[in-house]
Amino acid sequence: MTDKKVLIEKAKEILKRNNVDGYTVPTHDLYPFQWNWDAAITALGWMKFDESRAWLEIEMLLKGQWDNGMVPHIVFHKPVDTYFPGPDVWGVKNDIPTTAISQPPVLVSIVKIMVEQATDKALAESKLTEILPKLIAYHQWWYNDRDPENTGLVVSYHPWESGMDNSPAWDESLAAVPPVTYKYKRKDLDHVDSEERPHAEQYDRYIYLVDFFKNSNFDSEAIYKNCPYKVNDLGIITILHKATKDLIFLCKHANTNKQEVTWFNEQLTLTEKGINTLWSEEHKSFLNKDVITQKLSPILTTGTMLVIYAELASAEQINVLKPLLNDWLNETKYCMSSTYAKCEAFEPQRYWRGPVWLHINWMIALGADSYGLIEESAQLKTESEELLTKFGYFEYFNSETGVGCGGDDFSWTAAIALHWFL
Ligand code: DGY
Repeated sequence: MTDKKVLIEKAKEILKRNNVDGYTVPTHDLYPFQWNWDAAITALGWMKFDESRAWLEIEMLLKGQWDNGMVPHIVFHKPVDTYFPGPDVWGVKNDIPTTAISQPPVLVSIVKIMVEQATDKALAESKLTEILPKLIAYHQWWYNDRDPENTGLVVSYHPWESGMDNSPAWDESLAAVPPVTYKYKRKDLDHVDSEERPHAEQYDRYIYLVDFFKNSNFDSEAIYKNCPYKVNDLGIITILHKATKDLIFLCKHANTNKQEVTWFNEQLTLTEKGINTLWSEEHKSFLNKDVITQKLSPILTTGTMLVIYAELASAEQINVLKPLLNDWLNETKYCMSSTYAKCEAFEPQRYWRGPVWLHINWMIALGADSYGLIEESAQLKTESEELLTKFGYFEYFNSETGVGCGGDDFSWTAAIALHWFL
C-alpha cells in the first residue's frame, strides 16, 4: 500500500473504532460521549466512506437537542465512568442527559458540505428535510437566548462552550468567577499528561459555572442576567455567522422557511455591524470581549483569526490582518498556533494555549481562500498534512516540535484528514 492509502485506512479505522452505537466518541476514555462540534467535524470523515453513517452522526447529536432549540455541548448517550463532570454533576433531567451549554455551531456548515458532496442525493435530501427544522431552531436559540439585546454578538457562558477551553483569552474573565471550595476528582489527568491540560485554578471555576447553571434551574433570563462569566467569543460568533449563511442556503435549497430566512438575514446584518466593535486599532486585529467589564482581551488566538472564515473582515481590515497572518504562520514551525507565539501566555503544548488543531487550521484555510490568500491557505494545508504524516492522529500538536498531544486516535483529526488531504 502507498503511504497515502495507509493513512486513509488508518483514519477510517479510527472512526470505526471510536464508533459507539451510531455516534462517535472523540477518543475513548478521555472523551467517552458525543461532543457537539466533534460530531459535526467527524461526520465529514464518515461522509468519505459511509454516507448513511455520517447522517446518523448528526441525527444522534440532535437527539440531545433541548426543547428551546439548544444543541448541547455533550450528549451523554449512555453512562461511562472515565469522565468528569458527568451527567450527575450537570444535573440536566432530560430523557437523554446532556450538558447545559452549547459549543461552536459548525453543525449547519457541515450539513451544507454533506448535502453538496453526497453521492446518494436521495438520502441527503430526505435527511435534510428531517433535520432542517431542528437546525433552524438551533440557530434561533443562539440569537434569541444569547443575544436578547440584539447587539449582533452572541455571548458565551463557559470556556467549554468556546471549545477552546483553556485559551488565555479567557483567563481574566475566568479569574473573576469564584472557585468551588469542595473537593472533586478530575479524570482527565488519568489519561493525559498534566502539562497538556488546564490547571486546577481553572477547573475549580469551570465547575463553579456548571453548578451555577444548575442552581439557576437552567433559566435563560436568570443566567443572562447573573452569570459571572459572559464573553463575546469570536470563535463562536464567526462560526455562527458562517453557519447562518449556510442555513439560509439550505432553506433556499429546500425552498422553504422564507420568513425565517428574512429573520436570519437580519441577524447577519446585526453581526456585520456589531463585529466592528471588536476591532482594535491598537492590536490591528479583532479581539474577544468580556461583556461584564466591557474590556477587549489583548490575546490573539486562532478564534480571533476565524473572522476570515466568516468573511467578516472588510477590505481595509484584511490588508491589516494579512501581515499578522503571515507572521503568525511563520512564528512557529507548524501551521497556526492556537495562541499567537508572540503573546506572553503562549505555551506550545498546553491545551489551547499554543498547540495546533487541524480543524481550526482547515477553517482558517477556507477563510484565506475566500480572500484570495492562496499562499497562506496552501501553507496551512501543507503543514497540517505534514503534522499528520509525521506525528499521527492526535487531538492536537505541539506547534513548535509537531509532537502529538492530548488524546491519540482522535476522531476529528482522522475526519479532517479524510476530508481535506486524502
Ligand atoms: C473537557 O472536559 O476537557 C472538555 O473539553 C469539555 O468539553
